[in-house]
Amino acid sequence: MIMIVSDTHCYYDIVNKQIEFAEKNLGINITSVIHLGDFGLYSGQLRDFFISQRKQFHRPLYFIDGNHEDFRHLPKLVKKYKDYFTYLPRSTVHTFEGYRFLALGGASYMDSMITERESVITDQQINACLAIPPEDVDIIITHDCPTDIGVPNTPGMEHFGPTGFPRSDELAEHFRPKMWFFGHHHKWHCYSNNNIKYFGVSGVWKGFGLLDKNYDYKMISNKIEWDEATFVEKFLMRLRIIRPDSPDYK
Ligand SMILES: [Fe+2]
Repeated sequence: MIMIVSDTHCYYDIVNKQIEFAEKNLGINITSVIHLGDFGLYSGQLRDFFISQRKQFHRPLYFIDGNHEDFRHLPKLVKKYKDYFTYLPRSTVHTFEGYRFLALGGASYMDSMITERESVITDQQINACLAIPPEDVDIIITHDCPTDIGVPNTPGMEHFGPTGFPRSDELAEHFRPKMWFFGHHHKWHCYSNNNIKYFGVSGVWKGFGLLDKNYDYKMISNKIEWDEATFVEKFLMRLRIIRPDSPDYK
């Protein structure tokens, strides 16, 4: 079964804890993990987890980018860690367990403090998606949510305007996918329109989604406590790249 998670923000070990929970407590065999961005692709944290601590994900993990990744070094980092996880570039289609997923990482612009330029979804990337025949895609996976599906703004962030990224309506119209999964907002969300089922996936420390055959999808709440912030994390907090459970962060 496919596990769907989002927003690890460098706390990679929480993915493994959720896999362990699903397999040991729920008796579910996880075959792969799809990660909806804000993975936390940063050299120092990756080196610490995968090289220094010699850890790896318990199951194959595939991720789209969010708005909190090291975009400047993304190509180099995904190549270096290709034996540990796989990056799904924007505007590309990938088949897992019979489902064809259209991957589109990134987010709409928020402000320069929390939105790196490269994280913003471009018109060119939307156009590249729209060049893909609709019959080639079953499910869309994005980091940010589509517009007009009722995802509430995080309190205190209303000044960024309504949630969702521009031209997402064109993707919905073109592909009419059976399902559309997204992260970024750190909350569960369900919405249905025009036979498209939209699912917001909470931050990984609050739970995960399970996608079985025949579009059977479940959301599992399982809160994981995390350890005291490390020196690197405290440094990132000072740069406003703060703990992902903060209401100021997404
Ligand atoms: Fe995000």
